[in-house]
Amino acid sequence: SYNGLGLVPQMGWDNWNSFGCNVNESLLLQTAKAMADYGLRDLGYNYVVLDDCWSQGRNSSGYLVENPIKFPNGMKHVADQIHALGMKFGMYSSAGILTCGRYPGSLGYEQKDADVFASWGVDYLKYDNCFNMGQSGTPKISFDRYNVMSQALNKTGRPIWYSMCNWGDDNPFDWAYSIANSYRMSGDIYDSFNRPDSRCPCDEAIGCQWPGFHCSVMNILNKMAAIQARTMSGGFADMDMLEVGNGGQDDNEYVTHFSLWALMSSPLLIGTNVLTLTPANLAIYSNPAVIALNQDPSAGGGIRKWRYSVEDKDEFGQGEISLWTRQMQNGDTVIALINGGNSTRTMNATAKDIFLDQATAGTFMPAAELKETWDVYDLWANRLSTTEAAALINGTAPTITSASNSTTRYNAT
Ligand code: GLA
Repeated sequence: SYNGLGLVPQMGWDNWNSFGCNVNESLLLQTAKAMADYGLRDLGYNYVVLDDCWSQGRNSSGYLVENPIKFPNGMKHVADQIHALGMKFGMYSSAGILTCGRYPGSLGYEQKDADVFASWGVDYLKYDNCFNMGQSGTPKISFDRYNVMSQALNKTGRPIWYSMCNWGDDNPFDWAYSIANSYRMSGDIYDSFNRPDSRCPCDEAIGCQWPGFHCSVMNILNKMAAIQARTMSGGFADMDMLEVGNGGQDDNEYVTHFSLWALMSSPLLIGTNVLTLTPANLAIYSNPAVIALNQDPSAGGGIRKWRYSVEDKDEFGQGEISLWTRQMQNGDTVIALINGGNSTRTMNATAKDIFLDQATAGTFMPAAELKETWDVYDLWANRLSTTEAAALINGTAPTITSASNSTTRYNAT
């Protein structure tokens, strides 16, 4: 990668989805401690990221100052305490004159701000897109604006993960990998599995613009399908922070949300109140097999093998099903059958569907031809079974079916 960071997607926590502007020192430190106590840190969630609304403005020398009521001991103290827990500290600014919450932005102050972040011990910068003074509209204009901060961070000499947050504007999947470790590819997520929002037609090629952000899990997935081939080690497409635990989806939908973010090599940033996590939602964030899928060195996006719109749509007009696969570094294949609607569906995936190699137009992938049996492992049930190759290869027998409502539970048959 351009700065040596980001060979696999970042993991951690960001306060925005659950706390918004309601940030302070004790929230960050209590959360960091809980992440360590609950085992989340040791599972890889090591970045504690402070989002918008932390600032008090600039001092007479032009350096950013933290709000003294929210951060009475200063930002370096926060960083030191987080580091003492064996974790890393992230902060937020915008490539504009103001942040989205209307605090001072870094446009025109990039080196000063990078220097102050480095002096505080910051390990990660989320860099937003609000109030950019019209400096967008072509990939070059956006690249140049984001590159100034990339260079400024490099100049500090401190390794700082650079998380670009320009909402997919100006095709960051074409250029962001050369200046940033990750880049947002959509408008803001909201805590809905599939409920469409007319303010955010964020499906496929159609992006959505701030302040009209309201992308459901399925909106973001369908936009990601178009660019999955572009995400890569060192430059990950960021599907936005996780909503697991925030109450807008049922636990099966949260399992699907988390599985998809893992499958697509999206950053895994916990977006809920860790202190009040239910055991069920903690278990979703803590599934080691699904985390391993996200952190696999293959570092690519899953491929959508088929997608059908079902006829009997629900009251929101939803009812699509899809099959996704991904090759792991060790040759394993990951399969996800996604029910994007609200009604129970039976979905079948045959060996043809799963192993057909699109790159070589219709031939089976070599691994599939050589095998006589497969071990099928259900990442959510910790269950292993062996299935006969012949039925898989012929594509006659349904092999992996799922009949549950909005889940990726796989029942090997
Ligand atoms: C934008 C970003 C969000 C969050 C807010 C903060 O909407 O996309 O992730 O950082 O700003 O104001």
